Amino acid sequence: MVNQRRTKLVLSLCLLLALWQCFRALMDGFGPVQWAPSLHIPAASCTIRPNSSTWFNDRYEAAVGLLLTDAAHELSSDVVQWWLTLQGPISGIQLQTIIRQLFTVLQAPASEMWDRPRCRTCAVVGNSGRLKGSSHGLLIDAHDWVLRMNRAKIAGFERDVGTRTTHHFMYPESAVNLAPGVHLVLVPFKPLDLQWVTSAFSTGELTRTYVRVKQFIQADRSKVLILSPAFLKYIHDKWTQHHGRYPSTGFTALLFALHTCQQVSVFGFGADSEGNWHHYWEKNRWAGAFRRTRVHDADVEFSIINRLADEGRILFYK
Ligand code: C5P
Repeated sequence: MVNQRRTKLVLSLCLLLALWQCFRALMDGFGPVQWAPSLHIPAASCTIRPNSSTWFNDRYEAAVGLLLTDAAHELSSDVVQWWLTLQGPISGIQLQTIIRQLFTVLQAPASEMWDRPRCRTCAVVGNSGRLKGSSHGLLIDAHDWVLRMNRAKIAGFERDVGTRTTHHFMYPESAVNLAPGVHLVLVPFKPLDLQWVTSAFSTGELTRTYVRVKQFIQADRSKVLILSPAFLKYIHDKWTQHHGRYPSTGFTALLFALHTCQQVSVFGFGADSEGNWHHYWEKNRWAGAFRRTRVHDADVEFSIINRLADEGRILFYK
């Protein structure tokens, strides 16, 4: 009897969720969704932009280019010099040739297609153990875009992390296969990363960087976006201000959202209540490598995220 009731309740909830998703899909076609539905499922909505602070204005460059284009000459020598040393010094690289080859396999971005003046709500989902037990899944899924990264897991964690993904940020060593329609967003830290994505969508000739990497990747080739090294340097210069060697994937995804979405909600960033920096799928709280790599400055990134929240630029779910 109790089991029957429970099954009925679960089925009703599934039905409501399915109806809500259909409704959202419909409304997406008609324009901004700016109101909360009366269902008991949370909706992300755009709020009025706060006044700009000097702190924010000193950092935010609205016109910064986010994506790598086939015009390699557009990368300044400053950017190239900085980028080529991120994962050890590199010499004798023909960057122009590498980029040209890349765009024979993938489409070069025609223009940055998020300029449409509409209310786009985005959830940036970091991999922090803080998400465990959060019950944020439905709220995350209620955003237009859901940005995830690296080895983020969904199966078994739906209640806390949601089920939808529109953009998945990765680099070769953290690559995972994606469902059709999801944007693979490559965060390139070295020329080999550009060569890897070229190879993973064509010949599969590249199988090693500093570790073994995926020979081929299952992902929608027409949806691949490659972040520009200039965008990474912008974050390093203006936001983290040279703390850490370069920004973390999560912080980069957050800045991407800040430049492409009208409302940004941030989940899964920072240590848990006991100071552990593990991932939400890891049982061993000491396993989290994020803080220990010393490549990124987790404390500085975290304090910037808090400041953005304090200034009303993002909603930070802790
Ligand atoms: O560990 P990984 O890089 O895959 O995590 C994705 C992102 O989530 C990180 O780049 C970081 O910005 C964020 N993160 C965090 N706190 C953790 C783990 C990850 O803020 N405990």
